[in-house]
Amino acid sequence: MAEIIDTTLDRAGALARAVDVLGRGRPIALPTETVYGLAADATRADAIASIYEVKGRPRFNPLISHVSDMEMAARHGLFDPISRRLAEAFWPGPLTLVVARAPDSAVHALATAGLETLGLRMPAGFAREVISAFGKPLAAPSANTSGRISPTTAAHVADDLGSAIDLILDAGPAGIGLESTIVKVENGQLRLLRPGGLEAADIEAIVGQRLLRQDSAGATLEAPGMLASHYAPGAAVRLDATEVRPGEALIRFGGAALPGEEKAAIVLDLSPTGNLQEAATNLFSYMKQADATGARTIAFSAIPDEGLGEAIRDRLERAAAPR
Ligand code: TXA
Ligand code: MG
Repeated sequence: MAEIIDTTLDRAGALARAVDVLGRGRPIALPTETVYGLAADATRADAIASIYEVKGRPRFNPLISHVSDMEMAARHGLFDPISRRLAEAFWPGPLTLVVARAPDSAVHALATAGLETLGLRMPAGFAREVISAFGKPLAAPSANTSGRISPTTAAHVADDLGSAIDLILDAGPAGIGLESTIVKVENGQLRLLRPGGLEAADIEAIVGQRLLRQDSAGATLEAPGMLASHYAPGAAVRLDATEVRPGEALIRFGGAALPGEEKAAIVLDLSPTGNLQEAATNLFSYMKQADATGARTIAFSAIPDEGLGEAIRDRLERAAAPR
């Protein structure tokens, strides 16, 4: 079983142990402000291969390289003016910038899936300290079995991957609870590849232009690793429920009771006051709680399609997609 170190009790010990395991080319579970990541040396083929192996992930997905500072970022990615402005405004934070890969970047092709571009993110909190101490970028997808719900606590990681990895750093529940927003500049225009923990409107306010969400053929833009079915609990998922069927688990939003909920297996409210940030923080852990009841279906009431609601609805639609 993985060793779990509480980073709030032993910062120096946790850092030293993390650097040691990473230096041996092994992955660790790393707390970030979005979700817990499964992090390994982005420059080593064996280290990246072990991420894919632990997650059971399809190999064609490119991984995000996490950096501790702008100097490290600029060694691996080429920043156009818009990407630079966004990095200055939102890093460290829940934003991934897809930029051209620097010709002499040491990030391994296994981490980029051979693309000429690179997804870069500077995470906040303990993750950033680990990267800084390690001195190299860390490739890190979410620390869950491929296709399942992303972890927002160390306990989630331990339940899922505890027997497959050596070290889990525990920094408490992830504050944001949804993966980073991914954007890419193309021909001076900013494209949204994945909605996430940073609201599209906050990005639009900085760059003074609307984010493009569709390509020239009208298809929805996506990061290449975005599979339709993802974030899947064991139970089936029913969206925009207006009533609860007997035995279903209910996850609602906004505090209002739904008809039939007295016969639900469990009733959880993402945010009784209708706060989308609170809903994002609770989403994955409530999905796990609802799933743990053994209910065959989890019903979700409607989530508003504004602000962080865009990313929450994206995750729910993937959870509900045919598997
Ligand atoms: O918040 C997050 O982003 C978390 C934490 C751990 O940092 N990480 C995360 O990684 O969500 P992952 O591997 O689950 O998602 C990475 C996404 C994939 O959809 C992948 O296709 C996209 O980033 N991506 C990575 N590099 C890319 C590139 N060069 N071009 C386009 N998309 C890219
Ligand atoms: Mg993931």
